[in-house]
Amino acid sequence: MFYGGLPIKPFVLNNPYGPVAGAGGYPVGGYPAGGYPAGGYPAGGYPAGGAMMFSDFNKFISDLATAINDEYEAAKFYTELAAIAPCEEARDFILHARDDEKKHYSMFCRLYLELTGRQPVVSEPNIQMPAFCTGVMKSVKDELEAAEMYREMLLATTSMRVRDIMFVAMTDEMEHATRFTFVYSMADCHVDECEAD
Ligand SMILES: [Fe+2]
Ligand SMILES: [Fe+2]
Repeated sequence: MFYGGLPIKPFVLNNPYGPVAGAGGYPVGGYPAGGYPAGGYPAGGYPAGGAMMFSDFNKFISDLATAINDEYEAAKFYTELAAIAPCEEARDFILHARDDEKKHYSMFCRLYLELTGRQPVVSEPNIQMPAFCTGVMKSVKDELEAAEMYREMLLATTSMRVRDIMFVAMTDEMEHATRFTFVYSMADCHVDECEAD
């Protein structure tokens, strides 16, 4: 199966909500009328379009839990980073990213609740604020990693609604990486390791 030229794993029904898997990941006897899992959804859990729409439902949920905690931590980190920004424009760029992370956090929490019937567990991060430029460089790396993770999550589901959510988050993180790169040069940051010998 290909999406946009990228090969993806065949959908294997290894989740607690899906019907029994047949060859190629499809349920023996086909999906029940309407595409809902035979026997109905478990109490409390209403998968968006059915958990059969995920290549690995448990992995998706575990990645989503990680993403929720990352978003929460990023929002807090950016609030502190903005406070030590050397100029107004840099601060505005950081706060823009901070507000987007809050939006992602809410969006992902709603999705988690919808898919599992439970509230996500969010732990309070212990933030050690480094020097401004080091913080900006860390942010660029974190943003790029988040964009890549969300792309993987997007490709792990056929639910268009979940894909839309991951698409919005992925493109926001790509935009943030660009913003932080701009802040890096605006604040005259430089990396010692990259200086010519
Ligand atoms: Fe985010
Ligand atoms: Fe971000």
